[in-house]
Amino acid sequence: MVQRMRPVVQKIEESRLDSITLENLPFGKIFSDHMLVADFRDGAWQSPEIIPYGPFEVDPSISTLHYGQAIFEGMKAFRVPGGGISIFRPLENLRRFQRSAARMEMPEVSEELFIEGLLELIRLDAGWMPDYPDHTLYIRPFMFATDSYIGVRPAETYRFMIILSPSGPFFLEPQRIFVESHYVRAVAGGIGFAKAAGNYGASMHATALARAKGFDQVLWTDPVEHKYVQEIGMMNVFFRIDDRIVTPSLEEGTILPGVTRSSLITLLRDWGVQVEECRVSMDELADAYTRGQLKEVFGAGTAASVSMIRELSYQEHSMIFDVNAFSLAHRLRTTLKGIQQGQIADTHGWMMPV
Ligand SMILES: Cc1ncc(COP(=O)(O)O)c(C=O)c1O
Repeated sequence: MVQRMRPVVQKIEESRLDSITLENLPFGKIFSDHMLVADFRDGAWQSPEIIPYGPFEVDPSISTLHYGQAIFEGMKAFRVPGGGISIFRPLENLRRFQRSAARMEMPEVSEELFIEGLLELIRLDAGWMPDYPDHTLYIRPFMFATDSYIGVRPAETYRFMIILSPSGPFFLEPQRIFVESHYVRAVAGGIGFAKAAGNYGASMHATALARAKGFDQVLWTDPVEHKYVQEIGMMNVFFRIDDRIVTPSLEEGTILPGVTRSSLITLLRDWGVQVEECRVSMDELADAYTRGQLKEVFGAGTAASVSMIRELSYQEHSMIFDVNAFSLAHRLRTTLKGIQQGQIADTHGWMMPV
């Protein structure tokens, strides 16, 4: 039987909005009144529901807790002039979610379920979209296995959910980055390209060690030689060598194909900047630095948009950058923000109105 994919809505009796101010909320701690829930069983997605946000019970044996069949996405909605709300490139997040699901042997979530569910949820909780400068509504879709069975095999039942979190401006101070040459995030043939929960769990130890040494994040390198750059914590990474931008390519499947990454590459090419997606080695970067040609280093991701890097610590050496002298990184950040907030023409059709 074909299930209806338009969510059935069960509204909250009393909104929590009256007891909260949406100004300067920290990232990821407060959630809106409702959440979307859809269950997969008997080989099909059942009709989705939008219900009051809150905890739910799970069986202690659900396979997610033991074997980690769990994936997620992260994107943002913005307030645009005239009071409307627009989401930045949600179809890209849907496609990435589908690729993550396929790799983790989880069922595909259709465009109808993902996008219609999302739009319906945001419309219902539109009051949770903060109306202050640079505030956003963070959107977290996720899926996890729900079989009550501790045998190792792909589950037969799953839950897909979307929750919304209003957030204040998220700005990262220029970052000090530790280039990791012991621990590994991803290998070719692994799950580096997927937004799978396990990638994040596995990254925490190395990140904690780097933080204890005074760094903000690690820059992951390849697993064999620790020579080729992958990505930073929750950001893709870009380098400007003279007037050329280089960024690790997606080919090996070891980095997350960031939506911000792809948007920045498009903007740079629009501006006539040469962008190379290639293998980027630490030796090449260190040489460029020594010759004074490594002009900018920055990260790109949904949370912080474009984030300047002021130090790369590689083996015994430190490369120090004057982020005030960066040009393209600042221009990219301003342009992306302008497009997202509806102040710069969206010539690529990136914004989806709610
Ligand atoms: C590991 C990793 N790399 C890169 C990114 C940047 O991706 P996006 O621009 O789609 O947010 C993220 C964050 O979402 C991430 O978790």
